[in-house]
Amino acid sequence: MKIGIFYGGSPKGSTFQAAQNLVKHFGKDKAAMHNVGDATREDLEKYEYLILGTSAWGIGEMHQDWERFIDVLVEASIDDKKIALFGLGDQVEYPESFVDGMGTVFCRLPNKENVVGFWPTKGYSFYFSTAEKDGKFVGLALDEDSQPELTGERISKWVEQLRLEFQLN
Ligand SMILES: Cc1cc2nc3c(=O)[nH]c(=O)nc-3n(C[C@H](O)[C@H](O)[C@H](O)COP(=O)(O)O)c2cc1C
Repeated sequence: MKIGIFYGGSPKGSTFQAAQNLVKHFGKDKAAMHNVGDATREDLEKYEYLILGTSAWGIGEMHQDWERFIDVLVEASIDDKKIALFGLGDQVEYPESFVDGMGTVFCRLPNKENVVGFWPTKGYSFYFSTAEKDGKFVGLALDEDSQPELTGERISKWVEQLRLEFQLN
């Protein structure tokens, strides 16, 4: 198993569903998912590649389960691993903090040069996001509230991008 997908969101919510969708795309033999509510440091360290996902809950806020796990992640030995991020949000209701949870996870990562999977902001409409750096999102932004019809295609494209950036064959 190469890819560990760590997600934090409401029970069986859109972050969970996006994580499931990612596992399906990579294949169950290559990727496994963990809820950050009960994941451990050992879980993080056993994978070659990490994909970290959170929903957004206000200005700069990750899902609450990430509040504990982000400290576990900062302590873990993951310097040699490539990391990709995804974030759930709602650009219509929260246009000034769109997918901010993903921005905070990125901000807290000790080794940002290992991050791949940056994603264009084209096709989204928002005023401000802590997840936007140099004109791109720091990971895949998904909006199940106002653009659910785009989620499937966004995930497929992003997985293709990650296959290249992770150098999976
Ligand atoms: C109280 C509340 C606050 C929210 N704050 C934000 C926010 O600041 N930015 C954003 O993009 N989405 C925000 N959202 C939208 C959620 O992130 C979005 O609905 C997401 O899909 C929830 O995912 P989950 O069910 O996996 O937790 C908020 C939703 C609620 C209910």
